[in-house]
Amino acid sequence: MKKNIAVILGDGIGPEVTQQSIKVLDAVAKKFNHEFHYRYCLMGADAIDKTGSPLPDETVTICLDSDAILFGAIGHPKYDNDPTAKVRPEQGLLKLRKSLQLFANIRPITTYASLHHLSPLKAKNLEGVDFVIYRELTGGIYFGKKELSDDKLQASDDCVYSASEIERIAHLAFQHAQKRRKKLTLVDKANVLETSRLWRRIVQEVAVQYSDVAVDYMFVDNASMQIIINPKQFDVILTENMFGDIISDEASVLSGSLGLAPSASVGSAVALFEPIHGSYPQAAGKDIANPVGSILSAAMMLDHFGLTEEAQLVRDAVNWTLQHGFVTKDIDAINSYSTTTIGDLVRDYTENKISAEIN
Ligand code: IPM
Ligand code: MN
Repeated sequence: MKKNIAVILGDGIGPEVTQQSIKVLDAVAKKFNHEFHYRYCLMGADAIDKTGSPLPDETVTICLDSDAILFGAIGHPKYDNDPTAKVRPEQGLLKLRKSLQLFANIRPITTYASLHHLSPLKAKNLEGVDFVIYRELTGGIYFGKKELSDDKLQASDDCVYSASEIERIAHLAFQHAQKRRKKLTLVDKANVLETSRLWRRIVQEVAVQYSDVAVDYMFVDNASMQIIINPKQFDVILTENMFGDIISDEASVLSGSLGLAPSASVGSAVALFEPIHGSYPQAAGKDIANPVGSILSAAMMLDHFGLTEEAQLVRDAVNWTLQHGFVTKDIDAINSYSTTTIGDLVRDYTENKISAEIN
């Protein structure tokens, strides 16, 4: 199989974690006789420095012309600490999501038995946790009208949703639930927000077409507690943009670290694959960041290409490293390995240079 992959390394730890994924993808290509061509493009603070724009037109063109996009991370403290900045790195990612109509962000949450003892949560609450968050990605408060009054003393962000925006992601989430444990939880704040009441109504309407899926509804404040005290109850969580952003970072703690969590953003012809973590500027260039979120995002990309055996091999390779204590500092501050070492091990396992029998 021949695929063109647009690669956006981005900011902070983006480049170093994405490079590990590329090593692993190259190993997959070699082993299974595929050809992956990478086309590098700019986005974020890096793009602002080099071109003045957080999303140069060329990047959109390359992405549209590729089979998939692999993206690292975005953000830089110099913008975070300057609330008056007009051009911001994150605008690049938001604009890319919007222009490519990547309306559904899929964030699987899995736990690893070998990491339970390192978690701040009780092991008994982590066993068997396996759910997936469908986060709406191109609407809501992220994309509503933003205003700052002339005297700069008042600001507003509108949260807007249309029925069709809710409907299209609801269908994807229900279809996924049908292939899993057939349960869908809509997370909203319908006791307060009009947009949430619209979400409930539309989801209730869509649910009629998926009578084999059990649906429940949970307010986001309760959901954020339930994710910690009883995460096993979830199968597919469907939610709007900002709630999804927040609860997915929270849910990643169940796996052991934010650095482990991958995602896929889908909606139109070309999908984007990115770890859910940010640019982690304090770690940039230090070879300490966790590459697993990026590597598992690459595995989701392989699945998207229909290469399920290849995707499973990459996941097996990641499992092998985690089971054998090869983890970065975010997971184990005392016995930790570098970004490059984890990437090398996952690659070597993928290439059969490490036997699964080695203990
Ligand atoms: C994410 C990130 C982004 C978001 C930022 C960088 C704009 O936090 O992908 O979760 O909020 O969507
Ligand atoms: Mn986020």
